[in-house]
Amino acid sequence: MTSHRIAIIYGTTEGQTRKIAEHMAQTLRHHDDRVELLLGSELDPDFEPTAYDGIIIGASIHEGRHQRYIRGLAKKHAPVLSEMPSAFFSVSMSAAADDTLAEAAQALEAFQEESGWKPAQAEAVAGALKYTEYSWLKRFIMKKSSASKGGETDTEHDWEYTDWDQVTRFAETFHERLD
Ligand SMILES: Cc1cc2nc3c(=O)[nH]c(=O)nc-3n(C[C@H](O)[C@H](O)[C@H](O)COP(=O)(O)O)c2cc1C
Repeated sequence: MTSHRIAIIYGTTEGQTRKIAEHMAQTLRHHDDRVELLLGSELDPDFEPTAYDGIIIGASIHEGRHQRYIRGLAKKHAPVLSEMPSAFFSVSMSAAADDTLAEAAQALEAFQEESGWKPAQAEAVAGALKYTEYSWLKRFIMKKSSASKGGETDTEHDWEYTDWDQVTRFAETFHERLD
């Protein structure tokens, strides 16, 4: 088993993408990989992807797009990311239901088009509805959006849709690619 140096850079607004990135880090560490978890908005301007054996980037979708700082980062490093082992995961509620999977795939495609980075491994991952943490306005918007998609509307609770087996597999596949 070879140990690799991996950076997982994530963009998050309500924290679910961080949780997913942490799960990936844990999976990779079981394989003795050395993993750095980095919040995209606080990334050192001198960050060099080539300092790592592999890079995973994740971001969540709000109003149809991923975090601006992640889009910028992907664009800036697209040429080098395309040449090295790299992967992208996109977190959203549209990835949570069959009816809206096409929407999630479209956002994933748009991200790749805009950045010019087309990673060999790219997946849409279902996120969470964190009703109890939202402001009243966000709660109102998300309840309406969820109702229109046949999702949970009980705002007394948070609802997690993330498929943790998918997240584990994503990290396992990435590790195997580096071997
Ligand atoms: C204000 C708001 C807007 C959102 N817009 C979208 C959207 O356009 N499409 C979608 O699939 N999910 C949308 N979501 C769902 C988020 O992608 C989902 O809650 C995800 O888990 C957020 O990840 P984060 O906690 O890492 O930011 C939205 C969520 C909020 C709170």
